[in-house]
Amino acid sequence: MMDENKHYQKDTTGQPVALERRDATEDGRRYSPSTGRNKAIVRETFFSHMPRQGHVLEIASGTGEHGAHITAAATDLTWIYSDIDPVSQASQRAWRVAADHDRLWGPLTVDTTQLAWGEAEALAPFDAVFCANMIHIAPFEAAEGLITGAARLLRPAGRLMLYGPFARNGVIAPSNARFSEDLQRRDPSWGVRDLELQILPLAQAANLDLVAVVDMPANNLSVVFEKR
Ligand SMILES: C[S@@+](CC[C@H](N)C(=O)[O-])C[C@H]1O[C@@H](n2cnc3c(N)ncnc32)[C@H](O)[C@@H]1O
Repeated sequence: MMDENKHYQKDTTGQPVALERRDATEDGRRYSPSTGRNKAIVRETFFSHMPRQGHVLEIASGTGEHGAHITAAATDLTWIYSDIDPVSQASQRAWRVAADHDRLWGPLTVDTTQLAWGEAEALAPFDAVFCANMIHIAPFEAAEGLITGAARLLRPAGRLMLYGPFARNGVIAPSNARFSEDLQRRDPSWGVRDLELQILPLAQAANLDLVAVVDMPANNLSVVFEKR
């Protein structure tokens, strides 16, 4: 049987770090150690709270592993990769080529800080938008643009799922506080966001209703919204 985890480096930091090593394999697919650890539980959570059929726009697809892992088990989902980083897009392309199905599309170039989302605009409305581990590794404008852009391009009752570390109403887990400080040392505009104080007000203003907050391992959350 194929060992789908054999490419993961042995990484023990326990936190998703933007600058972790993601070496490309011979076929161009990259593997993120943190995604290797969380992709199974992220898929399970996605299947519990997100549409099982239709079109999913993924923002900040990174290596491309979440889309590959989820579509491998969801035959009625079309998953559209996107990113702003050409190296990540090359890996997404390689995961698409390696898949034995045609449910992976893209990668598109979508920068959530931009008002218009390029080619994604023409493919809308989407049944779902998924974004893991981006809003803390980008300026806050990226989070603002993600929420307003998702709200604009989702169909009514379409869902947005965010995954990653968050503070909760001014309280942050020690590991997330250390992670956030580390991020801010790299770039002062980065940092772990507060779900209640920073993200929910954006969602409310965009007519996205909160439908689920799911505790995930390593002090991460999955947060699911539904478009009114
Ligand atoms: C830590 S990686 C997460 C990758 C993947 N979602 C995962 O969880 O494995 C952060 C990703 O956010 C992307 N990114 C950063 N700023 C962005 C923006 N403004 N719009 C879209 N993607 C962005 C980066 O290119 C990178 O692929």
